[in-house]
Amino acid sequence: MIQQPSDLVHKLRKEHAELGAELEALEGLLAAEEAPDNRRRLREVVDRLLTTLPRHFRFEEQGGYLTEVVARYPTWSTDVEQLRREHGELLSCVEELRDLLERQAEARELAEPVRRLVQEVIAHIHAHERHENRLVQEAFNLDVGSAD
Ligand SMILES: [Fe+2]
Ligand SMILES: [Fe+2]
Repeated sequence: MIQQPSDLVHKLRKEHAELGAELEALEGLLAAEEAPDNRRRLREVVDRLLTTLPRHFRFEEQGGYLTEVVARYPTWSTDVEQLRREHGELLSCVEELRDLLERQAEARELAEPVRRLVQEVIAHIHAHERHENRLVQEAFNLDVGSAD
């Protein structure tokens, strides 16, 4: 279990950077010219997110910053609870995207509903991570970097 706030912030920063790279990959796919393998590449990023996100959320919830922030600032528990709730919502959003891709498995291009959902996933994860970075930065008075 991570005890030192500096270790915790370091690991959080590293994981947010990794997650940021996945979001950039998603943005790249939306901006890319239509190509037959865009769907396959999208599916790969979505599958990776479905592995890395639950792990990241577990780290934050169990021995990560969530408990530590509330221990230091009990009055922030509403913010922390909201972030915890968002973990489930974000995961559902990515699962919905995977299901949509599966239902349209034979399509070659990125259909509009898929694009909209990808944009939603990117925006939700960005907003969540920004909120987290802000909270942790204030709580530990350390620069955790930007999720952008
Ligand atoms: Fe989180
Ligand atoms: Fe996070």
